Amino acid sequence: MTSLEPGPDRVLPRGARFITVEGIDGAGKSSHIAAIADRLRAHGATVVVTREPGGTTVGEAIRGLFLDHGMSPDTETLLVFAARREHLERVVWPALDRGEWVVCDRFTDATVAYQGHGRGLGAARVDALAEWVHPGFLPRLTFLFDLAPEVARTRVAGRSGLDRIEAEAQGFHERVREGYLVRAAAEPARFCLLDAALPIEVLRETIARRLDRHLAEVGA
Ligand code: TMP
Repeated sequence: MTSLEPGPDRVLPRGARFITVEGIDGAGKSSHIAAIADRLRAHGATVVVTREPGGTTVGEAIRGLFLDHGMSPDTETLLVFAARREHLERVVWPALDRGEWVVCDRFTDATVAYQGHGRGLGAARVDALAEWVHPGFLPRLTFLFDLAPEVARTRVAGRSGLDRIEAEAQGFHERVREGYLVRAAAEPARFCLLDAALPIEVLRETIARRLDRHLAEVGA
């Protein structure tokens, strides 16, 4: 295994050690996040696992507002970006600047998919805010768990108490899925597109291979 200890000769752009995990509700991403962090740690990395919206005191408070109260699509978008800026300044960027890795459960691709496509605001509107909140900063690697909304729905239905986004009609989740797939098609080098209907062991193996490739690519 290679060592991921940052050396003086190895100055990576911030985004190189920032990995995000995305997918529609019920696609099963959460069960893989710990495994991603464990694999990085096995290479010697220090890893911060976090989520959006959330990850800070203010961000978690915004998450509560966001998930529990109906609001306009613009308000949703502005709230997640407010939480995001707080998260970047207090958690993500400091960790990356210390040479650590950050694995984040959702980021701006979620806003493009959910608010841009799902709510119909348009990707350009979301990208304009992204340009303000995190200019030039993106994950270098994004795992996208893709699943048909009707299958995802049966998985989510097993949970107790759906939040207001999970409870949206199937058409909404279809638009969200489409939004993610458009994004992934536009940036194939960044996205690792996963068929979330595959058995968990197959997904684990694909993720592990992609992570190892990423580590080699960034020279870690
Ligand atoms: P989670 O349950 O996967 O943590 O995500 C919380 C919910 O928030 C999920 O339904 C997706 C939604 N969401 C958005 O609508 N826009 C965003 O920008 C983010 C980050 C999440």
